[in-house]
Amino acid sequence: MTAATDPATGPVSDPASESGSVIPGAEPGSVIPGAGPAPRPGERATVRLREDGPAEGPRYAPEWLQLREVADAQARAALLLDPLRIRLANLPNLHGGLVVHDLGCGTGSMGRWLAPRLDGAQHWVLHDRDPYLLHFAAVASPRAAADGSRVSVETRRGDVARLTPDSLTGAHLVTASALLDVLTHEEVANLAAACAGAGCPALLTLSVVGRVDLTPAHPMDAEITEAFNAHQRRDGLLGPDAVDVACDAFGERGATVHAHPSAWRLGPEHRELTAQWLRGWVGAAVEQRPELKERAEGYLAERLEACAAGELQVVVHHSDLLALSRPTGGAG
Ligand SMILES: C[S@@+](CC[C@H](N)C(=O)[O-])C[C@H]1O[C@@H](n2cnc3c(N)ncnc32)[C@H](O)[C@@H]1O
Repeated sequence: MTAATDPATGPVSDPASESGSVIPGAEPGSVIPGAGPAPRPGERATVRLREDGPAEGPRYAPEWLQLREVADAQARAALLLDPLRIRLANLPNLHGGLVVHDLGCGTGSMGRWLAPRLDGAQHWVLHDRDPYLLHFAAVASPRAAADGSRVSVETRRGDVARLTPDSLTGAHLVTASALLDVLTHEEVANLAAACAGAGCPALLTLSVVGRVDLTPAHPMDAEITEAFNAHQRRDGLLGPDAVDVACDAFGERGATVHAHPSAWRLGPEHRELTAQWLRGWVGAAVEQRPELKERAEGYLAERLEACAAGELQVVVHHSDLLALSRPTGGAG
């Protein structure tokens, strides 16, 4: 399907111009997006979309995805692009241009980063289950490749966990960013099977690995990290196990997998992002372990104060994967 034209969707706003809550209408002090799902106006952090139908999963605020886009771009493992370019350069049938499927595209930051780093005409198929985010992705899509060739996009609303090799017919590359850790073991195995079946390489970026370094250190850092990681693993989601599971899943299906660290390195210039990340990180930890609430509130206040003063450095470790499946003779 094409991009949603939700009349409620406003123009893409500049998070740097916003103050206070990242989510318009969100309750002050509510858990707002750190590394997890975000409520939309009027929704609580953990509310599912439909109570009477199949759960569609939590929704992410476009403001949060925009806020993290610069740090994401700085973190991405550009070194993985050389082996990817070599693989793409050897494709036999690229006359119509490169077809890239971006899974869980959100507001489309992966395409805005990658399309201008690859040569040649490209067609991006942007997948997400959230039509609201697809709308943002479509309006702010990349227009030109590294060599000035045309880049076009289409959007598809759906569940990427149900991808099949057929869904990837004609695809030359699959990408995803900050997606693997919100999938289950079975869903990642399914994704690996779809890519292997289509013989399609996959660039799977910015998966959390469960490690965070804060400077200066605080005695509660480890406790919050542990509770946050447990929250990430709730309901069978992979959270910090995603990278290992994905490496195994692709490797077992014959792919060569390259992994590279892609940490966020947040200093005073990222203080708005750091503050929102802290709120979400601590909020998720408390949701997981409510008995931490009182101490965690003090911890958060201290950390936010240091952040506002430009005295806090945070490294949020992630990993990027390039999985080169064996070509099947099809597009990939
Ligand atoms: C953390 S956000 C990352 C968005 C974007 N890739 C980025 O890096 O900014 C995860 C995205 O994956 C989407 N998503 C999660 N699970 C999905 C599924 N099973 N099917 C389709 N989209 C999914 C969410 O709607 C959200 O847009």
